Amino acid sequence: MSIPFQFTDEQAQQYETEGCLLITDYLSQGEVSSLLNETYKLIDGFDISTHPLTKFTTENDGEHVGDEYFLKSSDNISFFLEPGAFDKDNNLTKPKEKAINKVGHNLLKDPVFFDHTVNAKVQAIVNKLKFKDPRVLQSMIICKQPQIGGEVPPHQDGVFLFTTPQSALGFWIALEDCDESNGCLSYLPGSHLTTPITKRFVKKPNGKGTEFEKLDSKESTPEYVNDDKNYKLLKCKKGSLILINHSVVHRSNLNLSDKSRYAYAFHVIDGVATYDEKNWLQIPYTGGTNFQKLDLDI
Ligand code: FE2
Repeated sequence: MSIPFQFTDEQAQQYETEGCLLITDYLSQGEVSSLLNETYKLIDGFDISTHPLTKFTTENDGEHVGDEYFLKSSDNISFFLEPGAFDKDNNLTKPKEKAINKVGHNLLKDPVFFDHTVNAKVQAIVNKLKFKDPRVLQSMIICKQPQIGGEVPPHQDGVFLFTTPQSALGFWIALEDCDESNGCLSYLPGSHLTTPITKRFVKKPNGKGTEFEKLDSKESTPEYVNDDKNYKLLKCKKGSLILINHSVVHRSNLNLSDKSRYAYAFHVIDGVATYDEKNWLQIPYTGGTNFQKLDLDI
């Protein structure tokens, strides 16, 4: 018989101190398989012939993230491709299942992912962390493909899911084993307490595309963010959950190995915090905050 899930005071305390928390065996191996199978089904059904070949990277605010396909993805299941899967003439050099960077940004449209997101375990965590009106947004499968899986540079999730006060909490679930060879996550312990958020990712005022907006702050990003040796690796087995605070600095390296690194990630914000119309992610995508409530009577 499996032991019922518990999120303890000690775990909550560790999360508050470190800004990240690894929980092993959060999902059973059977649950991991069912999420992976659903992922393969979604990718199988993806018709690449009608796709605008939207590549995804967080390295800059280039044109590829600014298009309509990206903005509309806030509320549907869209597919984003690895820049490394294209040759210099912009032809795809890999089959689609090896070229996808991520699938998102509303996986709640899929019943299998919905059930692994809006449930009593997630509620137990956000209740312990004192959310008043927990809401789910930006759910996605991150593929980190073999050999071409791109680097995600150091960042804070509060830049991309900006609320006042900051409230975003990331749930990152490993669907495959993760270590240094295939680009596991790493983070700066305690950096959420010392590293200000100095910019935010916004929709351009004309509604077309996105850009970073500098915040009116005298603070700047500390130097320690750029020092490799300060980062703590989060090696983990499939089925592990990593909680990520909105302000903790984290990143992942390139995947140059022969194995992929699939993960399912979603975020919870507090509905009592302000989420304004500048944020790129709106539901409906034309403008709104109709985010899935986590507190259901279940
Ligand atoms: Fe992140």
